[in-house]
Amino acid sequence: MCGIVGYIGRRNAVPLVVEGLKRLEYRGYDSFGVATADGRINIIKKQGRISESCVDPLLLKGCMGIGHTRWATHGVPNDVNAHPHTSCNGDIAIVHNGIIENYSEIKRSLTAEGHTFLSDTDSEVVAHLIEKYYNGDILQAVFSAVLHLKGSYALLVICSSEKRVIAARKSSPLVIGEGDAEMFASSDMTPVLEYTRKIIFLEDGDVADIRDSKVTIYNNKEPVERKSELVEWDFESAKKGGFDHFMQKEIFEQPDVFFNSFNIEIPEKAVADLKKASQITVVACGTSYHAGMMFRYMMEKYCKIPVRVEIASEYMNFNPCKNSVMFAVTQSGETADTLAALRSAKNENCITFAITNVLGSSVTRSADHVLYTRAGPEISVAATKSFTAQLAVLLKIVSCLCNDDIEVEISGMHPVIEEALLYDAEPAALICRDAASLFFIGRGIFYPVSLEGALKMKEITYIHAEGYAAGELKHGPFSLLCEETPVIALCIKDDSYPVMMSNIKEVKARGAPVIGIGSAGDIDLEEICDFYIPLPKSSEISEIINASVILQMLAYKTAVLLGRDIDKPRNLAKSVTVI
Ligand code: F6R
Repeated sequence: MCGIVGYIGRRNAVPLVVEGLKRLEYRGYDSFGVATADGRINIIKKQGRISESCVDPLLLKGCMGIGHTRWATHGVPNDVNAHPHTSCNGDIAIVHNGIIENYSEIKRSLTAEGHTFLSDTDSEVVAHLIEKYYNGDILQAVFSAVLHLKGSYALLVICSSEKRVIAARKSSPLVIGEGDAEMFASSDMTPVLEYTRKIIFLEDGDVADIRDSKVTIYNNKEPVERKSELVEWDFESAKKGGFDHFMQKEIFEQPDVFFNSFNIEIPEKAVADLKKASQITVVACGTSYHAGMMFRYMMEKYCKIPVRVEIASEYMNFNPCKNSVMFAVTQSGETADTLAALRSAKNENCITFAITNVLGSSVTRSADHVLYTRAGPEISVAATKSFTAQLAVLLKIVSCLCNDDIEVEISGMHPVIEEALLYDAEPAALICRDAASLFFIGRGIFYPVSLEGALKMKEITYIHAEGYAAGELKHGPFSLLCEETPVIALCIKDDSYPVMMSNIKEVKARGAPVIGIGSAGDIDLEEICDFYIPLPKSSEISEIINASVILQMLAYKTAVLLGRDIDKPRNLAKSVTVI
């Protein structure tokens, strides 16, 4: 879960690599490093964030360079464990994203052969292994070295005496950007889009020999053809555009994102496969899991098709999905747990669907059908617009299978989401800011909405927050309620409204302040709550989306009041490529 960038061309590599790493910081940001080659290898690497450091391009020269921004897995974040890592003679430098599972074994045998290791990382073995096989041709040495590696890797390798960057990929993302007499390599395309939209997505087992004006790709040492794709995402959409934070910008993009994502075409073959499904299994993690839970409510309500929703990392502990349909919902398309669950479903003859935001991501290579959400690049670690985009695509599936009315309902929603975005969440955020702990409660589809609200809150504010089915709170958590534990209650005028109102009264009777989020004009709710947030009046679906949007803004505002690092919360990374 790190970010890597490489460059070879006519320009000084350092500013390009540094800027690229800044765009990949969502993948990890505890340390960074850059290496160039100009007859020798030059390296700068440090603990901390590249976005907060200054790398002097004059200290490192060369038109060929690699860089890394780290999310520590093996070894604490410090200068030594930061990448790039080098061979004993310092002539070979590598950056690595992934995990080398058999690194201890390799390290022991290389140490016995006389290699000296400096870091605690798994990655350093790669540099030494390549050194062992190096005989004047870095490509051949990489071919030999990767045969020994178990686990996952996206690797970039440079050598002091050769003008080429070698890239290798297995189960970790890696793309190549083809510029004009210059080439880029990166964990994803955001660092590359400023320079070129011609992107090659490497496949598992690929090793690429990247020269300044040509790339040759091999698999099993045989040359293979990988066509470049012209990518629609633009560089501007990966910039903050006047907002204080990416999260804020991404929240505000949701009206368009929702519509663009709902308006995808589902190919006929995919619709036919969906229509055969007597049961659907959804696997996902975090926010995407919550979108999956919401899909279950919609699917069972409108289409009467049973849906099983599993946290991807737990999927292996239950009976597998057999001969039916599985959805893997994942913004990044790289989440290791989700990919593992999807692959195991394929082995059980399931028809698999990937719902993802990232063109060419790993999940798109594994699934039978791919439905792309149209959220555009999501930079903030906390998922917001990608969640709304997932809901839109999942709603499209429901609409396609069994309820055309959804399309009509959705057609009037754009201004309603915009109205929700005008809501000033600050007064409610002031209540949350001072809380010891927060509970988010809801019933029916508003239960996963409350789970998502709590996840967003804890993720970016560091306040302990729990989402609960409103009916469950009395089965234990009541003992925690007091004046310092505000409860955010989602109480919409649907079938569960009367019981939800009773639940709110029970909470109030135990001394906890209640922020009620409900349908516009609900005087009863306004009366019993300490603070009332009305949702713009419209349809059932718009209330679901708007409640989610308002909870995102509540978390955002609370984090602003607390002065948190909103786009890069501590200890997290956006793309979780480890199990
Ligand atoms: C929360 C968040 C995470 C992700 C989770 C799955 O804001 O972003 O919980 O939702 O790591 O990621 P994807 O959707 O990329 O599989």
